[in-house]
Amino acid sequence: MSSNPTQKKSWNILKALASDIQDKHLNDFFKADNNRFSNLSLKTDGFFFDYSKQRITQDVISNLCALLDESGFTSKRNAMFNGDIINNTEGRAVLHTALRRPDSDVVKVNGENIIPAVHNALNKMKNFSNAVRSGDHKGVTGSAIKKIVSIGIGGSDLGPRLVSEALHISAQKNDQILETKFVSNIDGDDIQSALDECQAEETLFVIISKSFKTQETLTNALTARQWLQNNLPDGSDISPHFIAVSSNIEAVENFGINPDNIFPMWDWVNGRFSLWSAVGLSLCLQHGFDKFKTLLAGAYNMDQHFLKAPLNENLPVLMALIGVWNRNFLSLPQLAILPYAQSLLHFPAYLQQLEMESNGKTVDYDGQTITDYKTCPVLFGEVGTNGQHSFYQLLHQGSETVPCDFIGVLTPETDLPHHHDLLLSHMLAQGQAMMQGQHEPNESYRYFEGNKPSSTLLMDKMDAYSLGQLIALYEHKTFTQGVIWNLNSFDQFGVELGKELSQKLEKQDLSDADPSTKGLHSLIHKASK
Ligand code: F6P
Repeated sequence: MSSNPTQKKSWNILKALASDIQDKHLNDFFKADNNRFSNLSLKTDGFFFDYSKQRITQDVISNLCALLDESGFTSKRNAMFNGDIINNTEGRAVLHTALRRPDSDVVKVNGENIIPAVHNALNKMKNFSNAVRSGDHKGVTGSAIKKIVSIGIGGSDLGPRLVSEALHISAQKNDQILETKFVSNIDGDDIQSALDECQAEETLFVIISKSFKTQETLTNALTARQWLQNNLPDGSDISPHFIAVSSNIEAVENFGINPDNIFPMWDWVNGRFSLWSAVGLSLCLQHGFDKFKTLLAGAYNMDQHFLKAPLNENLPVLMALIGVWNRNFLSLPQLAILPYAQSLLHFPAYLQQLEMESNGKTVDYDGQTITDYKTCPVLFGEVGTNGQHSFYQLLHQGSETVPCDFIGVLTPETDLPHHHDLLLSHMLAQGQAMMQGQHEPNESYRYFEGNKPSSTLLMDKMDAYSLGQLIALYEHKTFTQGVIWNLNSFDQFGVELGKELSQKLEKQDLSDADPSTKGLHSLIHKASK
């Protein structure tokens, strides 16, 4: 059977259903069905998901589930969890889920059980972070470590940055938090502003790079090392201040980092799914190992739900199907991520990498160019209520319809419950306005068509466990969409060309450059002299 989704039986049924729905208004769906809210919503452990404001019906959901079945979803999901080589372009297994499994489980890659190595790494993270946090691990001058600087980019930065901020905001008053800074950009302003706030004798750098080849990270790491050498007593051994997380041990050693100071990554963990590995070390240092273990436990809980819940009650699956419906059948090319929780400040940026780097592709799993269907939408977003005063005008009255994911947290995170009530009222009001619209205004410019689809995900609370669940939820959503779109969601060749060209330009090699690039290069070059 063809793996092209448009060749599946259910695809054509869905197309017919979409043409029926295209000119119906969401208000009419609610008028026609008093139970729409309860019929099109789902309660799972820790979450309530309302998708009744999507332009969708139960019939559509059933056919989307059929499409997933026809795509071989169950066997593909098992193949991922079992460690089959599903990243076919790079010949790798995809086992971020193994990073959160209990030590009694067995998962084999090329015949070898990888779970003991996962738990050895966790033990090393535990021992090291405990030693730093207790003051037993000292800097070269005998000072305790008071600041962590995490250097990495993309998947080696966005996950820890997201969780760091979220746990910081949701921390209890007596939680011990070690100050942590994140540096990613190659722009010297990024590392300079971090260094300006650090004292060398009490600073620990964590260099995170799976490949240990990423120019941004290596450049920042060199600057950090030089800064330590300049600011510690002459001839100091900087190794107590400098550790690395990588799968490229040889490159780390060549860089001059003490082998004892290397925490492992594996080629079966993709960068944007790597938060659960030693990439999370800075979180253990900042918030304590127990919080990190709780994060893993939350993700494991979502893994079990993803594996066991029936498709139409499976939260990541439902979210994925709704996304496919909006993208492929209602032809909506964007998705707005709108968390009404300050703790999720970095969630839109995190999801941009997770979904767009995974599924932003037009070559399918079999190496064929995709010509007859669309893949990942463009994601963007902002925390509520900030976004309301920025791009929501377009969401309400713009010429594009943008589906929205609202995310709210039921339990207030602060002692200011009044703020929380206002915050969630805003969230509800936006979803209501987007859906209902305003059809009889006095002036034409106050006309809102409405009929803008949105989902609302309510989390019971915000803590390490629920955050682990939330991140794993979107990981599995991303995987599920990749199955329908027949993609390898775990490579990222689209980022390579820019890296190669920038290296040429840096060496003044303009042989491949077009006139625009040459003209700009000349201006930049003149200005920097
Ligand atoms: O941007 C491409 C990419 O390879 C991402 O997939 C990855 O998360 C990031 O660069 C960082 O890679 P590394 O951890 O190897 O430095």
